[in-house]
Parts: sequence; C-alpha cells; structure tokens
Amino acid sequence: MKVTVVGAGNVGATCANVLAHREIANEIVLLDIKEGYAEGKALDIWETSPINLYDSRTIGSTNDYTKTAGSDVVVITSGIPRKPGMSRDDLIATNAGIVKSVAENVVKHSPKAKLICVSNPLDVMTYATYLTAKKDSREVFGMAGILDTARYRSFLAMELNCSPKDIQAVLMGGHGDTMVPLPRYTTVSGIPVTELISEERLTAIVDRTKTGGGEIVNLLGTSAYYAPGAAAAQMVEAIVRDQKRIFPVCAMLNGEYGMKGIYLGVPVKLGKNGIEEIIELKLNDAEMKLLQESAEHVRDVMKALDAMNLF
Ligand code: NAI
Ligand code: 2OP
Repeated sequence: MKVTVVGAGNVGATCANVLAHREIANEIVLLDIKEGYAEGKALDIWETSPINLYDSRTIGSTNDYTKTAGSDVVVITSGIPRKPGMSRDDLIATNAGIVKSVAENVVKHSPKAKLICVSNPLDVMTYATYLTAKKDSREVFGMAGILDTARYRSFLAMELNCSPKDIQAVLMGGHGDTMVPLPRYTTVSGIPVTELISEERLTAIVDRTKTGGGEIVNLLGTSAYYAPGAAAAQMVEAIVRDQKRIFPVCAMLNGEYGMKGIYLGVPVKLGKNGIEEIIELKLNDAEMKLLQESAEHVRDVMKALDAMNLF
C-alpha cells in the first residue's frame, strides 16, 4: 500500500511517523512545498527504522507529485495552523487556495486515492477538497472527530482515574467550538458514563473538549499535532486494512440527519472503499438542535468559501 501525506509540518510529519512506525503502509511519501523540508523529515523518520524495528519506507519530495503517483490514500495537511487569538475559520483565506492546488495535483497523479483532509477550517476545507477532486463523496472526507473524541475520552480517563482504552464515545458536528459531544452515547466498558460522574463534572469535561484545540494553541503558540497526526493515521489504517471501523468522520451528508450538501462530523463505517456507511443515530430534540446549530456555523464558513470564487 502507498500513502502520501501532503504537508511535512507538525501534523503531516507526525502522521507519516505513525504510519511508518506501525507499518500501516509499506511506502509513504511526504511532500511539502518548502525546499528540502519533506526530504529531511522523511529521512529522519526512516532513520528510526532500525531502532523501532520496522521496514516501511518513507521518502520525501519537494512539490514533485510524480513521486506520489498511484497512492491508495492521500492525507492533506498543507496550510497554516492557527496562533493564539485566531479561530480555525480565520485560516480560510490562506488555506482554501493551498488545499485547492494540492487536491488538483493529488488527483492528477492518484485518481483512485481516498482523500483525507486535515487542514483547517476542517469541514469547509474538506468540502473544498471534494469540489476540486470531483470524486464520489464517499472517497473524500475529513479528520476531526477522532481527535475531538480522543480529547473527550482522555479527559474522562483523567477524571475517573481509569484507562482511556475502556472509554467509548461518539461526538458529532463541525470541528469547532460548536461540536456536539454526546454523553448519552458515552460508556466506560459498557457502563453509561452518567452513572459514574456527576452532571456538573460531565458538563465541565464536555466544555473542555469543545475548546480542546484552543487549549493547546494557548500552551504551544501553534496547534496540536501528536494527537491529530495519530488520528489521521488511524483513519488511513482503517482504509488500507479494510477494518470497517466506526469513527466520527467529517462526511458529506446526502439527506442523513435531514441535511444535504454539507460536510459535517457524523459516525461512519470506514473501510477499503472509504466511507462505507453513514450511521444515523436517533438523536433527541436537544441533540438535534445542537447538531443543527453546528451545521449553521459550518454553512456560514461555506459562504466565506463561496465568496472567494475559487470554484
Ligand atoms: P505546519 O505549519 O507545521 O505545517 C504545514 C505545512 O504545510 C508546512 O510545512 C508548509 O510548508 C506546508 N505547505 C504549505 N503550502 C503547501 C503547498 N501548497 N503544498 C505543500 N505543502 C504546503 O502546520 P500543522 O501544525 O502541521 O497544521 C497543518 C494544518 O492542519 C493547519 O491548517 C491546521 O489548522 C490543521 N489542523 C487540523 C486538525 C484537525 O483536527 N483537522 C488538527 C491540527 C491541525
Ligand atoms: C485542533 O483541534 C487546531 O484543529 C486543530 O487542535
């Protein structure tokens, strides 16, 4: 299997490192526009192979897409990250053009690849990838829900002093502060989380999850990358190993949840064909209202993309 990661910055290089270390693909191409940057990161990753004992080969490329030809999966992480005081939506002016030109090149050289967008503002950059790639929407999707759910699960594990492995959760909506964590669907080894934690503490954890990206930006001065890189790699793994795993993924809705023509985080089954099924939960009125509010926010950012006249 061949996987390309576009953008050899913090998230892209972390993702490539996880892909190599866990032998998720035998050929990994890291591509960046900055001269020598991807080659340097790829060589450094390859030099961990005798230490970490794997044989997946990582190579770098400065904007030469012929090296990416025939990729099975492409992860797009190119674009600027936010700085303290910025929202993800502030990135659209720079990132929309980058994502468009990258997606054009990717599709030209790997027409059959499944495309995973990571660049922010995520839901709308995934839509921009879809508009550029002109592929079936089940083959073009975005990474956010696995990261947001991982934050939620890791905060719950700290609160309950238990293993994060035992916490199962689902979260929906856009990748922003309007995301919709669903305590009703959160369990700890099958036990509803509401039986283990007070409503007040659960609300505080949900609120921390919604602003979890900003918490890291304020600490680092740039956005997170270990968890985002690992989350993107987990999606690649589900596709290349045809695992049919169920994750929250940014997917195009075609009538599901009563919405159409919008990319939004929903639970899906991910396998070799990309999104093999969108799972429709029976949301209650309050949950559906939150999902609709989140969708409204994404639609506002879609209008900003439209106003750029790129498509
Ligand atoms: P970074 O600045 O470390 O890396 C971005 C890389 O993209 C740079 O190396 C840059 O040279 C490269 N790049 C820019 N234009 C390019 C082009 N036309 N072709 C190829 N490469 C190009 O940024 P970082 O931290 O890796 O974040 C990348 C993106 O991912 C940002 O937009 C960030 O907001 C987003 N992000 C999304 C997350 C999510 O959950 N969906 C989580 C974390 C970050
Ligand atoms: C995050 O949630 C900034 O989207 C990025 O960490």
